[in-house]
Amino acid sequence: MDMDALSVIRTKRDQGRLSDEQIDWVIDAYTRGVVADEQMSALAMAILLNGMDRAEIARWTAAMIASGERMDFSLLPRPTADKHSTGGVGDKITLPLAPLVAACGAAVPQLSGRGLGHTGGTLDKLESIPGWRAQLSNDEMMRVLRGVGAVVCAAGEGLAPADKKLYALRDVTGTVEAIPLIASSIMSKKIAEGTGALVLDVKVGSGAFMKNLDDARELARTMVGLGTDHGVKTVALLTGMSTPLGLTAGNALEVREAVEVLAGGGPADVVELMLALAREMLDAAGLTDTDPAKALAGGSAMDVWRRMIAAQGGDPDAPLPVAREQHTVTASASGVLRELDAYAVGVAAWRLGAGRARKEDSVQPGAGVELHTRPGEMVAKGQPLLTLHTDTPERFAYALQALESGITIAPRDMVSVYEAHPIVLDRIA
Ligand code: URA
Repeated sequence: MDMDALSVIRTKRDQGRLSDEQIDWVIDAYTRGVVADEQMSALAMAILLNGMDRAEIARWTAAMIASGERMDFSLLPRPTADKHSTGGVGDKITLPLAPLVAACGAAVPQLSGRGLGHTGGTLDKLESIPGWRAQLSNDEMMRVLRGVGAVVCAAGEGLAPADKKLYALRDVTGTVEAIPLIASSIMSKKIAEGTGALVLDVKVGSGAFMKNLDDARELARTMVGLGTDHGVKTVALLTGMSTPLGLTAGNALEVREAVEVLAGGGPADVVELMLALAREMLDAAGLTDTDPAKALAGGSAMDVWRRMIAAQGGDPDAPLPVAREQHTVTASASGVLRELDAYAVGVAAWRLGAGRARKEDSVQPGAGVELHTRPGEMVAKGQPLLTLHTDTPERFAYALQALESGITIAPRDMVSVYEAHPIVLDRIA
């Protein structure tokens, strides 16, 4: 087969369809290092601008799966169920959800990622727990899954290696927000992972990669179709991401909040979404007679969390890292907090050090943003709205810039105009 990267890039640049042979070749050649990062960046940008049809996406996903190994959980005594979020601000749901669903009888093999753009990553969050290791061998992963029922770890080197390279490249080349690339990235990992049931949390709003419901539905339908075609029982919930989830965005800050939820407290939106996703996972796994709310209230989810963290070298009792410096943002006027924009908060957390600017950067475990109020609440002039956390105070000004247009306070008599949105906006199966 006579192929070269330039002709593949030109096909997509000129709004053509990539052939099966072109897709198979470019994914394989990129994985082997024959196609260079700069060539793949150009192709990713051409895909972002010109799209791919369903057949191209299916082939691209199959090629990414074929770039590595496939796991097999069929010998486990419990049905497997996994959840994947398309990425949001303050989205710490995996942390309490995985132990909760395991406490209800499913095996939860939660292969997770790192931060992408302004959105946080589950592995970055858990790595703020002293001693916790994201990297497990396949054997170790199976052992934790058998012994504890839930494991949250990095996908092994062998699983969809094409996605591993492409994901890191997209993060730093402005090519994240493309439906074909997001759908194939998520589904190649989940199908190769071998879960029997999968619940997708497709985020919608300013803090998500999908800014409106139509795009989110298109992404959800594409992913549900890919999963179903590969024999994975796949369901998607579309959930709001116009304001951060919960009251924290940033690695250790979010772990603290997740532990509060497992202890029976925590913000109502986090608890509500976690329970909705848990019910979908249990349903898709065929475990319909267990109530996750009871497992949460009875403390069994917290027990699984503690064992899950300890099984990966973490100390569930160790104090979490705290950033060296704090800065409080106060209300500029009295009134009702109309908007606390998720994207603005995500960018601020990222600029404070919770995310990375280059793929080789490390993150600050204590950095991030803590919310003291939620949209819809009354505030008085001078009242603290947010606390910014970082080890590097020279970042405060840059983070504050991100927040400038993200906070809106309306006059008190506008309070009846504020409309709270439900968290779950739609379901696609
Ligand atoms: N999560 C992924 O795994 N991949 C994406 O492209 C976006 C979110």
